[in-house]
Order: sequence, then structure tokens, then C-alpha cells
Amino acid sequence: MRAICPGSFDPVTHGHLDIIERAAHLFDEVLVAVGRNSAKNYLFTPDERVAMLAEATSHLDNVEVDLLGGLLVDYCRERDIDVIVKGLRFASDFEFELQMAQMNHALSGIETIMLPTAAQWAHLSSTMIREVAKLGGDISGFVTPGVAARIAAKVADADAG
Ligand code: PNS
Repeated sequence: MRAICPGSFDPVTHGHLDIIERAAHLFDEVLVAVGRNSAKNYLFTPDERVAMLAEATSHLDNVEVDLLGGLLVDYCRERDIDVIVKGLRFASDFEFELQMAQMNHALSGIETIMLPTAAQWAHLSSTMIREVAKLGGDISGFVTPGVAARIAAKVADADAG
């Protein structure tokens, strides 16, 4: 079966990578798709987010990374994707994810499965990591070294500009 892990990944965290690795064990192929949530302002461009994910998942043979334009369900239909995989940290994630899963099911019949985030990463969010990094905090425990370097470069650019 083919699965998709869609998200903003701004940037990818150890929490996302845990879900992607577990999906890669459960399914034959996993597509990680960098999408757009119209409610969010992004720090990294879509291409930068794809590049960070490709680097962070390069050890996983059955995982590919792609850009997601348009509707997730259209993308899934075009690529014969059977199931959407999402990670859940806490109850407020569930409320939003449930609504999206129901909308995607209503649009196309596609199923969503939700994996509980590993307790070790339950406190992580890309938003908080960006905030901590901008204010000079150490985020090296939450992201890969490659991602940490890219965040540091963005923060330095913003400070210079
Ligand atoms: O990491 P996020 O921000 O929760 O990811 C949300 C994302 C990008 C997966 C979601 O906004 C999405 O699926 N966007 C693609 C456009 C779409 O299909 N929107 C309707 C979702 S019900």
C-alpha cells in the first residue's frame, strides 16, 4: 500500500521524522508531501522545506518527498495513494485532524490513519522551534543538524536585514 504524510514541515522536526519512519515500516511506499495551510505564514519556502525533508529522510529507502500543490485528495487520486497518515500529539490536534480527515473522506473516500506521537516528541512543534530559535534558544535537540544549520542561517539573515 502507498501512504502519504502531508504537512507544512516548517521545518521538519524529530516528531515528524518519527511518524514518517513508523509509516515507512507500516506501508510499502511513503510519500512525504509539503503542502500549504492557508492559515499559516511560513519561514521556509516550499523548496527549502522539501530539501530539508529529502536530506532528513535519505536513510529511508521507501520514502520520497514532493511538493503538494492544490488539494491533497486530488494529489492522492493522481498518484494512487491509498491512505493519509497523520501524527497526533494532544487533544487539540485531534479536533483539527478529525475535521480534515472527514473532509478528505467526504471529497474522495480516502482514509486517514492517525498515529500517536512518541511521548519523547510530544512537546515539539515547528512554530515553537522557530520562536525559540529566533530568540536565541538552543533547538539542536529537536531537529537534525542540517535543519538546525538552516534555521540558524535564516535567523542570522533576519537579524542582519
Ligand atoms: O502541518 P500542517 O500545517 O498541519 O499541514 C496541513 C496540510 C498542509 C496537510 C493541509 O493544510 C493540507 O492538506 N493542505 C493541502 C490543501 C488541501 O487539501 N486542503 C484541504 C484539507 S481538508
